[in-house]
Amino acid sequence: KKSEAWSALFSEPMSDLVKRYTSSVFFDKRLWLADLTGSLAHADMLAAQGIISADDLAAIQRGMAQIRAEIEAGTFEWKLDLEDVHLNIEARLTQLVGDAGKRLHTGRSRNDQVATDVRLWLRGEIDLISGLLVDLQKALLDIASRNVEVILPGFTHLQVAQPVSFGHHMLAYVEMFSRDAERMADVRRRVNRLPLGSAALAGTSYPLDRARVAQTLGMDGVCQNSLDAVSDRDFAIEFTAAASLAMVHISRLSEELILWMSQNFGFIQIADRFTTGSSIMPQKKNPDVPELARGKTGRVVGHLMGLITLMKGQPLAYNKDNQEDKEPLFDTVDTLKDTLRIFAEMVDGITVRPQAMEDAAKRGYATATDLADYLVKKGLPFRDAHETVAHAVKAAITQQVDLSELPLAVLQQFNPSIEQDVYEVLSLRGSLNARNTLGGTAPEQVRAQIARHRQRLAA
Ligand code: ARG
Repeated sequence: KKSEAWSALFSEPMSDLVKRYTSSVFFDKRLWLADLTGSLAHADMLAAQGIISADDLAAIQRGMAQIRAEIEAGTFEWKLDLEDVHLNIEARLTQLVGDAGKRLHTGRSRNDQVATDVRLWLRGEIDLISGLLVDLQKALLDIASRNVEVILPGFTHLQVAQPVSFGHHMLAYVEMFSRDAERMADVRRRVNRLPLGSAALAGTSYPLDRARVAQTLGMDGVCQNSLDAVSDRDFAIEFTAAASLAMVHISRLSEELILWMSQNFGFIQIADRFTTGSSIMPQKKNPDVPELARGKTGRVVGHLMGLITLMKGQPLAYNKDNQEDKEPLFDTVDTLKDTLRIFAEMVDGITVRPQAMEDAAKRGYATATDLADYLVKKGLPFRDAHETVAHAVKAAITQQVDLSELPLAVLQQFNPSIEQDVYEVLSLRGSLNARNTLGGTAPEQVRAQIARHRQRLAA
């Protein structure tokens, strides 16, 4: 007795081990709504083209409505024996409506069906992710606008470099996440094309109207080569690459939050609800959420490597290898969505410690460049000014004071043109205000950028 859905050709049933090995239903059942939607669009077109009757279409629609209700109610019985989501739904349909259910697969293969389902599903997820990227950008804009005038040391090589506005620092991440949103929108254009109608690999002899199906499904176009349509997964790879970059941005932010929360910085506190204690050390409040996000970035980047490697050795057209695209793709989507969601909330709950940031900026001679620029304005070539200030910093380090704490007479030993107005230049605020060029950290620039971003996100 044959045990499978497809053929009387087989003389013995599939072994249980092989069944379990090849089955995907327990993870691909999450494509069920896309599968129903795709099938209904296909059936509608088959009827419009006179390939199936209006009665068959009505029966298929009725059956699918019931299947939908069963799945939503949790009463649908998923069977390992039926391999995947597609065969499970089709078998149930036939059970419910008889021959009409058997006609649904006319001019279709699971190869173009699954490619369509994954694209439909991913399109919806990309839309959710785009919304979450907006939420995160808004949370970053809020904390930025509350802290435009707060000064922290900007670092290069993790050494104190120049003072920057905390708002400006947050806006750097807004830029990154806005590019992630652009990438998602761009990937979506290539995800949103229709493979259905390619059948197994070569097209079909039935007079299908592929454009009609694309329109019903809200797709931007039809895949133009049947071999490519059923076997290509580069849309999934591209998505995972864009997701990896978004996670990398999250991971960089995480690293900074973790550092800033450490006692040695003390720049910020994360709201208690986002931290955890220690089972042994009573004083601990650990930044588990950003740490986990940094860790989960490795997992998403791993999925990118998995998917791209999955593709590299495949001859045209469909190969079962492609069933392995699901778990990495699903996990990438889940991980990115959860992480974006939690970050938007966490950023909102950050407490900023302006005094600790300013103190840290003062400890690192962050205004040394400003003194050099001051000397340049007095007529020194920049390289000479640079050297002069290095001597002044050395003296300040020896005396364990900031440059601004050196008396005027001492500063004048390094260069006689230094006057009383140098102290404004040596202040953190003076340094900040001076960087008033487009993209710079002066509060005026930061406010202009916040306004620009808010306008962009409202549009
Ligand atoms: N579950 C399969 C997948 O995920 C569906 C397509 C199977 N097609 C086939 N010819 N075996 O790719």
